[in-house]
Amino acid sequence: MLEINNIEVVYNDVILVLKGISLAVPEGGIVALLGANGAGKTTTLKTVAGLLKLQNGELEGGTVAWDKKPIHDLDPDRVVRLGISMVPEGRRIFHDLSVIENLMIGAFARRDRDQVRSDLAGVFDYFPILAERRNLRAVYLSGGEQQMVAVGRALMSRPRLIMLDEPSLGLAPLVVRDIFQILRRINRERGTALLLVEQNARLALSFAQYGYIMENGRIVLDGPCRALKENEDVQEFYLGMTEETGRKSYAEVKHYKRRKRWLS
Ligand SMILES: Nc1ncnc2c1ncn2[C@@H]1O[C@H](COP(=O)(O)OP(=O)(O)OP(=O)(O)O)[C@@H](O)[C@H]1O
Ligand SMILES: [Mg+2]
Repeated sequence: MLEINNIEVVYNDVILVLKGISLAVPEGGIVALLGANGAGKTTTLKTVAGLLKLQNGELEGGTVAWDKKPIHDLDPDRVVRLGISMVPEGRRIFHDLSVIENLMIGAFARRDRDQVRSDLAGVFDYFPILAERRNLRAVYLSGGEQQMVAVGRALMSRPRLIMLDEPSLGLAPLVVRDIFQILRRINRERGTALLLVEQNARLALSFAQYGYIMENGRIVLDGPCRALKENEDVQEFYLGMTEETGRKSYAEVKHYKRRKRWLS
């Protein structure tokens, strides 16, 4: 459904941030994109969402296709209309607006008012707490509730794909668990595909079906999540299963292993 093919992205005409990323999300699938700070995860999502130009970014090579049609030249609102919705890093909700006003922003491109009303009811069904707080200004919400608003806002455009940028960030484990349970329900009940960016590798690999690991603007490893979880290097670097040397880059782990093998 979504196919990112060998994209290269530059910021401010100079800094090459994505160095040939390829990634696919099948209809109804759940895909995880993992990687350390600065790897280029957010940039990848922004490229799909059509948000690069707003940040002085430029696609220098490669393509993004949706249902086999190129979308990398489209404006963000066109991308939303095609069925791709993003839950951005740090939620980005409007603190001075009420819960319901924030949710309605997600429906900005739609004219079918009756359907919008029933979709709003659908969001309240997934997140009953938001129904209770519908007229409250968003600034008074907890972090978890704000994340729920961000997911609900994404749902209001009737997406076939939701891209989530670190939805677990800064939230307590129990809140994260609740939100991920609801994401799974949304995926099952509506067939909405999810592209999940996470630094919490353990969580992402148990939630998604397929995963990509990114480092310095490149995909260094990809595969079914079950296989990734069993991969020794992934365990060492991302799942913290050996503590002796602290957090390293995936490439360093590889290098270190090779040397160790050579020395022994
Ligand atoms: N608007 C911008 N202008 C210039 N450089 C940028 C811009 N946005 C991001 N970068 C740089 O691009 C690189 C990748 O950033 P990106 O935000 O995509 O990484 P990330 O994997 O999402 O990291 P994090 O885990 O910290 O969110 C970083 O080196 C960052 O400094
Ligand atoms: Mg990011």
